[in-house]
Amino acid sequence: MNSMRSRSIALLSSFAAVTTVAAVAIGAFVASGAMFISSHDLSALAVILVASATIGIAFALVLGQRVSEARRSLAETTRRIGKGDFSPSNRLPAPAEFALLADELEDMSARLKHAQERERALEASRRELVAWVSHDLRTPLAGIRVMAEALEDEIIEDAETVARYHAGIRAEVDRLSDLVDDLFELSRINAGALRLELEPVSLGDLVSDAVSAASSIANHKGVRLNGELEGRSPELELSAPEISRVLRNLLENAIRHTPHDGVVRVETGVDRAHAFVRVADECGGIPERDIDRVFEAAFRSEAARTPVHGGAGLGLAIARGIVEAHEGEISVRNHNGGCAFTMRLPMRS
Ligand SMILES: Nc1ncnc2c1ncn2[C@@H]1O[C@H](COP(=O)(O)OP(=O)(O)O)[C@@H](O)[C@H]1O
Ligand SMILES: [Mg+2]
Repeated sequence: MNSMRSRSIALLSSFAAVTTVAAVAIGAFVASGAMFISSHDLSALAVILVASATIGIAFALVLGQRVSEARRSLAETTRRIGKGDFSPSNRLPAPAEFALLADELEDMSARLKHAQERERALEASRRELVAWVSHDLRTPLAGIRVMAEALEDEIIEDAETVARYHAGIRAEVDRLSDLVDDLFELSRINAGALRLELEPVSLGDLVSDAVSAASSIANHKGVRLNGELEGRSPELELSAPEISRVLRNLLENAIRHTPHDGVVRVETGVDRAHAFVRVADECGGIPERDIDRVFEAAFRSEAARTPVHGGAGLGLAIARGIVEAHEGEISVRNHNGGCAFTMRLPMRS
């Protein structure tokens, strides 16, 4: 019996047909003795048995043929998937069990294709991140070197310029250290190593602190910063330093992209099971081709890739990582000649 297991389906089903006919034949011959069946009837029975065996074997061979075609097609599909070709195969009609298996293979292939596309997109954005970050590290370093060399060579002598160079070095060092800090935060988020120390916090207080802290940049730029709290301030379990970091980035972005004399509105409130903070500005709207990409690490619109701009395009990627670590979500849409970023955080009972 063991040696039968590995034979082809055609052989096995032919064997089944032959053994059935043989069993009937043996039974009939044994019974014929007891039942006084005439030899004429017996030979007629033999002819019938031979005919049924032939038909049985023919059917078994046809079945074996279909099964083997279905198996070949499945093997071909599996081989293609193994080689990374996830295009849908043209399917032949196959027995139900094989069709089910083929459906499952097709599902798996679609999932693998999706995963592969995501992996490629991630890889591309990682490469872009490394390229931009190295560029962003080089620019302030070059500035520092030039200013330090000028001071060292005593090319500049008047006290005012010396003080300006010192301040310039200081500003570039601050920029570098912000960038390194952002990179560190982003790598902790990507590695899933962000440890949140949750504590009960009033979201309204956190927002009003962030608005006060950003008001000097807003004044400097000539942008009005309006904070509104709808109803009572929601109390949430969250990590105050991390959420403050998100708010700081949303406010700084909004102020930076709003022209002089424009208004940035900050709304805080509760919407069913979520508390929300919305920062709406008058940036003129984010171009449709960019709006889905602003949360990608290192993404900056063309206009934002200027040396005066400062940011490395990591702020919103970090914001999304932090908000998602709080099981919340952050989104953006264009609205009334500007854009509105909304952060939603779950309210816990
Ligand atoms: N409030 C906003 N208005 C218009 N564009 C924005 C706004 N916030 C972000 N963006 C776009 O998204 C990009 C990424 O933002 P962010 O990740 O904070 O990086 P950075 O501030 O360093 O540029 C910005 O360069 C800009 O193109
Ligand atoms: Mg930013």
